[in-house]
Amino acid sequence: MRNFHDQVIYDTLAEHFEVDIWDSHRTPPRDVVMRKANECMAFLPEGIDLLDAEVLDQSTALKIIADRAVGTDNVDIPAATRNGIILTNTPGILQDACADMTFALLLDAARRVSYSDRSIRAGKWTFFDQTPYLGLDVHHMTLGIFGFGGIGEKVARRAMGFDMRVIYHSRTRKIAAERELGVEWMRDLPSLLEESDYVSFHCPLTEQTRKIMGAKQFGMMKPTAVFINMARGAIADQAALYDALASGTIKRAAIDVTDPEPISMDDPLLTLDNVTITAHIGSASETSFRNMGLMAADSIVALHQGMPWHNVVNPEALDNR
Ligand code: DGY
Repeated sequence: MRNFHDQVIYDTLAEHFEVDIWDSHRTPPRDVVMRKANECMAFLPEGIDLLDAEVLDQSTALKIIADRAVGTDNVDIPAATRNGIILTNTPGILQDACADMTFALLLDAARRVSYSDRSIRAGKWTFFDQTPYLGLDVHHMTLGIFGFGGIGEKVARRAMGFDMRVIYHSRTRKIAAERELGVEWMRDLPSLLEESDYVSFHCPLTEQTRKIMGAKQFGMMKPTAVFINMARGAIADQAALYDALASGTIKRAAIDVTDPEPISMDDPLLTLDNVTITAHIGSASETSFRNMGLMAADSIVALHQGMPWHNVVNPEALDNR
């Protein structure tokens, strides 16, 4: 288990297992991960801790990986499956926290909240002048949501309170949500990009979504539009995002995820004033963080005890045991 934060999570596990804590806020070094995969029957990692084929193929002990995350792109799932290692995640419980954070970023980009804060701290507020801080309206604007799962839908519900028009694109059309919320389905990403004033990404990182936002796609957005990324940094080509922001192809961006993480301090994005960057904290309210850890711990106990389980990403792994 990594990142000891809450006694209740430790206690849940300690009732059944000997618990080994990587007592640091940093990812354990690779040699430690390789060794522990031969000593521990379960891992409870953060969604950023890489468990690739090299780690999983040489493991003789691991039976369960319980990611404290909903996105499981940190784990090589085919490798876990062929080695009989069950992978679980934490869906459902973080949706509201992520949707709240999406609106924090959207409002920040629209109304220049952190930009204004940075200016004041840098001693630039020396006389009354609102013009450097003029914002964009949110109300009655069009919000495009890419990936309309649980988080995307919660974002749409919040947007209703801002009198926004909400359009979305998702692999599956959500007729019930369309009827209940009045959201409109767009047949593809270009149509979504062309119509949105704010476009917010909530999809998993897969081979289909990796770098789905490149120079061509940023070019399809309105020059007044804002790009919001709550998914994974690698869904956007970060150099293309820089170019789009620096050249005025798009107006602003607010991103909770970067590629790599943490972002390199040399990344040119950090030189721009029209982007807000947060530290991959979409789900990180105190309550969600605890509940995600508890859900991961409960998954380990349930799987170990043969109790009914849910939130298993690769049930086929059981056939390979
Ligand atoms: C998630 O749950 O996927 C968050 O992004 C944390 O990794």
